[in-house]
Amino acid sequence: MSVRFVFLTDSHHYPGAPKDYGAPKMLTQSRTVLDAIVPAVNPLKPDFIVHGGDFLCGGSSFELPWTTYLQSIEEVAEVFSGFEAPTYYVPGNHDSDAQSGSFEPFAARFSIPETIDVVDAGPRLRLALANIYHQCDPIEEGNGVWTDALDNGLREAAEQAYADRCAILLVLHTWVLRGYEDQSGVLSGADRLLETVKESPAIVALFTGHKHTNRIRMYRDFLVVDTACLIGFPMGFREIRLQDDGYFVTRFHQLDLPELIQESYDRSSVETNNAWQGEIHDRDTEIFLPRLREIWC
Ligand SMILES: [Fe+2]
Ligand SMILES: [Fe+2]
Repeated sequence: MSVRFVFLTDSHHYPGAPKDYGAPKMLTQSRTVLDAIVPAVNPLKPDFIVHGGDFLCGGSSFELPWTTYLQSIEEVAEVFSGFEAPTYYVPGNHDSDAQSGSFEPFAARFSIPETIDVVDAGPRLRLALANIYHQCDPIEEGNGVWTDALDNGLREAAEQAYADRCAILLVLHTWVLRGYEDQSGVLSGADRLLETVKESPAIVALFTGHKHTNRIRMYRDFLVVDTACLIGFPMGFREIRLQDDGYFVTRFHQLDLPELIQESYDRSSVETNNAWQGEIHDRDTEIFLPRLREIWC
């Protein structure tokens, strides 16, 4: 048994953006980026596709007008309807509207979890899709909050999955491991989530976006996988294979937009660009997941 899927995140569409905003984002070119995604993903023929949030430019920072917010939802929904594999979504902080922080118009067009949804994505493989903004204002708390409802829902799903000999991949918008002094970009309540994952052997990996950075960390016996953005350098997504011998194999694919990628790259220092794209093993690597091996064998 082997499952192959695509994880993409932070596509940040902004029709008619007045400027590019902070690097590496190329918001004035967001339509070009959006149009390049589906033709890059479909030929890989993944079993399923997961988007980690920030489809849009609502929430804080971009002062997105209401009508543009509604237009961007329609345009992204239309383009992503071209995906040929089942596609699953979690919301990001920039998917709410910029005035009230409501996700309602977005949720009307995209099937997003109210708190946590569990779906059968492949043979003996479930996705736990978490909405870390269900109880907080995404404009004020862009990193989201790990709540009682999320924790209880995940524990329940993990127990059931273990009983059914199914592996779980947890998908949420923001990163969960403490960094240097700067804690920005880390989920509020992440320590509690990590405790739950530690105690839940069915959960083999966590997938996040939000920081626009490729990085992979093994923590104890599970994997935490962050993926860079589509809207700027390195402008790509992950292809992932889970093998029944317990191996996680990933490869990062850049969109076929070399000039735009270069333009985005030229806005930052080499060091900053390297942080976004990650080291080679943050992009392309093979890692043994003991929990996957145990539950699938
Ligand atoms: Fe983002
Ligand atoms: Fe975000």
